[in-house]
Amino acid sequence: MAQACCVAMSSAVMVVPRAASGVRAAAACSSSNLSFAGLRRVETERLSGFAAIQHELSMYNGVASRGVVTMAGTGKFFVGGNWKANGNKESVSKLVKELNDAKLEEDVDVVVAPPYIYLDSVLNTLTKRIEVSAQNSWVGKGGAFTGEISAEQLKDLGVQWVILGHSERRHVIGETNEFIGKKSAYALNNGLKVIACIGELLEEREAGKTTQVCFEQLKAYADAVPGWKDIVIAYEPVWAIGTGKVASPQQAQEVHAEIRKWLADNVSAEASSQTRIIYGGSVNAANSAELATQEDIDGFLVGGASLKGPDFATIVNSVTAKKVPA
Ligand code: PGA
Repeated sequence: MAQACCVAMSSAVMVVPRAASGVRAAAACSSSNLSFAGLRRVETERLSGFAAIQHELSMYNGVASRGVVTMAGTGKFFVGGNWKANGNKESVSKLVKELNDAKLEEDVDVVVAPPYIYLDSVLNTLTKRIEVSAQNSWVGKGGAFTGEISAEQLKDLGVQWVILGHSERRHVIGETNEFIGKKSAYALNNGLKVIACIGELLEEREAGKTTQVCFEQLKAYADAVPGWKDIVIAYEPVWAIGTGKVASPQQAQEVHAEIRKWLADNVSAEASSQTRIIYGGSVNAANSAELATQEDIDGFLVGGASLKGPDFATIVNSVTAKKVPA
């Protein structure tokens, strides 16, 4: 069905937000086409003359020759850069300059996560086009918790996002599913948006436990959070993080589809259709476009390659691989 809808003939580019798990194609091409017109973002400025007329006609007759690839929720691709404990004052200001100079596709939510100590300077020098995330936050209200930073303090600084449940915090620091769930609830209740990470270890994959592990991690979020509208799920197989061993597009797509189904079965159809699921683990400027073409990959969480402005910009702009000439 996806192949038979939404129309062609010009260089227009369409991105249609996902309607519901498994029915995105229907949203894009059913007789309810017109009622979705408000959701469809079409770059009509690229059209001119005959192409524009053809495009308008196509919008009304429902005849089509190409499918459209859709993304969840806002319909926006999401790319986050996780700088981890890298950099110094000099390299951070160089990276900020590179990002400020980069040409980024419009239809992408772009977020970077510097180390805590650079958050303020990055917030003050980085283009507002890019939002800023912390890499962690405390599980509750601030106070006598040496070395921790509270969600309230992050909000006070102007930080919009926080990465929680990253595998390095799970497996190096020892954070549990339950603790991460609580942290997420606290951050969301205090106005931060959450990049909620999940992912299996190599031995868990090899034991055929990938989905079981991911579902347990998801359940811990679901049991604690007040809602899913400010959550982006980052699927990051631990064996792919920082190893240069990227999951194949098919491996990633398979798990993303399972996650989306889990949300439909255990949270709601709305959470399933609206929550963006991004992939992380050795994403770089050379492999992002192919990964981006996968139906359920709504963006990326990038570690190493986010430390180089031009490479990160290329990954952000891999959204163009997602868009289908219509
Ligand atoms: P990587 O890290 O891109 O360096 O593999 C990804 C992450 O940890 O978020």
